[in-house]
Amino acid sequence: MPEKDIEAVQPLQKGTRETRRQWCKMAGVDFRWVAACVSLTLIGIAIGYWLIKPLGAGVPPICPCENLHFCNRIKDTTRKEVFMFSLRATATDWVRYDWTKVTTVVMVGYLDMGLVCLAHKHGARAVIIGDVTADVFVSPDKRKSWIAKQLDVVDRYFLDGLNFDFEGPILPDQFDLRDGYTALVRETRAALVEKFPFAMVSVDVAWGAQGVDERSYDNQGLAAAADFLFIMAYDMQSQIRGPCVAGPNSPFPRVMEGVQSYLNASISPDRLVLGLPWYGYNYSCLALSKENECSIRAIPFRGVYCSDAAGNEINFNTISIVHLWKTLGRGMNGHSLQVRYDDPKSLKVKYQYAIDAGLRGVGVWNTEALAYSSQEPRDIWDVHEMWTTLPDFRQNQRHLNNRKHLPRPDGSDTVQG
Ligand SMILES: *[C@@H]1O[C@H](CO)[C@@H](O)[C@H](O)[C@H]1NC(C)=O
Ligand SMILES: *[C@@H]1O[C@H](CO)[C@@H](O)[C@H](O)[C@H]1NC(C)=O
Repeated sequence: MPEKDIEAVQPLQKGTRETRRQWCKMAGVDFRWVAACVSLTLIGIAIGYWLIKPLGAGVPPICPCENLHFCNRIKDTTRKEVFMFSLRATATDWVRYDWTKVTTVVMVGYLDMGLVCLAHKHGARAVIIGDVTADVFVSPDKRKSWIAKQLDVVDRYFLDGLNFDFEGPILPDQFDLRDGYTALVRETRAALVEKFPFAMVSVDVAWGAQGVDERSYDNQGLAAAADFLFIMAYDMQSQIRGPCVAGPNSPFPRVMEGVQSYLNASISPDRLVLGLPWYGYNYSCLALSKENECSIRAIPFRGVYCSDAAGNEINFNTISIVHLWKTLGRGMNGHSLQVRYDDPKSLKVKYQYAIDAGLRGVGVWNTEALAYSSQEPRDIWDVHEMWTTLPDFRQNQRHLNNRKHLPRPDGSDTVQG
């Protein structure tokens, strides 16, 4: 109670101490005891907090999975990858994945322990994207605190690593940015594996190594700093240099050329995962030639006058609508539309190429492109086909499951499984 009020009630010529004593007497307690008690309690709380606070930081997070084993991180660091990006926290979709094939699932734009538990239950890694902006690259201090933050998240959510999806431009003469990015990846992986020996770090790179989309990254350095690069062999019409016409999202000859450009840069095939699309592009044609060349609006991208930005991305699940258009034999609003997309047939050829080239594996952007909840026979078939077409590296692995873990190419990991 504030003193002022007490004095207002007891306007006597006595000191405040005397006033308090009187109040305490009225309440039947000894003022000295109350004062001592309150002071000791406050001091106790302060000391307790000071003691417990640093201890709390070291307390391991509590596993929320139904089975505590599902919080254990995946230990195999050498197996081939089926590397899947998931964009939506939808548990009813996750259970439809073919978990006998997935080796890593990347949560994009969300973080959900439900998926972490499910992935671990099936022996797959769960990772997130280490969201980063270029200003972090060039400052050692910023890199350090960024890494500390990522480590904390990996720790608290029982994650198996990080994926870098920077994608911003780095021009050929921006050496500070280029080397800063590589340094960040190297330092992140070093810090991660120190705490979590089996954690994996991957970096998403353009379809080709030669500065595609103004991304003059240090690909060799990144490949050495990370566990592997994820080649984004899609959006490959982002810079159309010839006539401004629609083209395939992931044309096979150029996919091979792109992979070759990384191999030419002395990057081991074991450090390359081939990323392929479960989506395509829908273009509205300004004109459609007899040869089916669809002229599109010229929308510039990174130094080139024409790009796939003229179309809109459509997931594989909406492509069944396209089949309906085909049957009807016309586009909407009198405009001709041209849809360029991959299906199980075209994907199978590219998966096989990745296997034959001895790459680290394949990956997909993105798992939610399928109509998991649809009861349409066509959609059910599509979901089944898209998953069964993926390579089954884990079956091969099951045959070799007594094999010891090989050292990583840079000798950084000689752990036995
Ligand atoms: C890779 O190197 C070979 C041999 O030097 C060359 O013929 C080929 O054009 C290169 N390919 C790419 C995509 O860089
Ligand atoms: C395809 O593009 C046309 C023209 O821009 C548009 O009207 C249509 O809604 C698009 N279809 C899909 C499935 O995105």
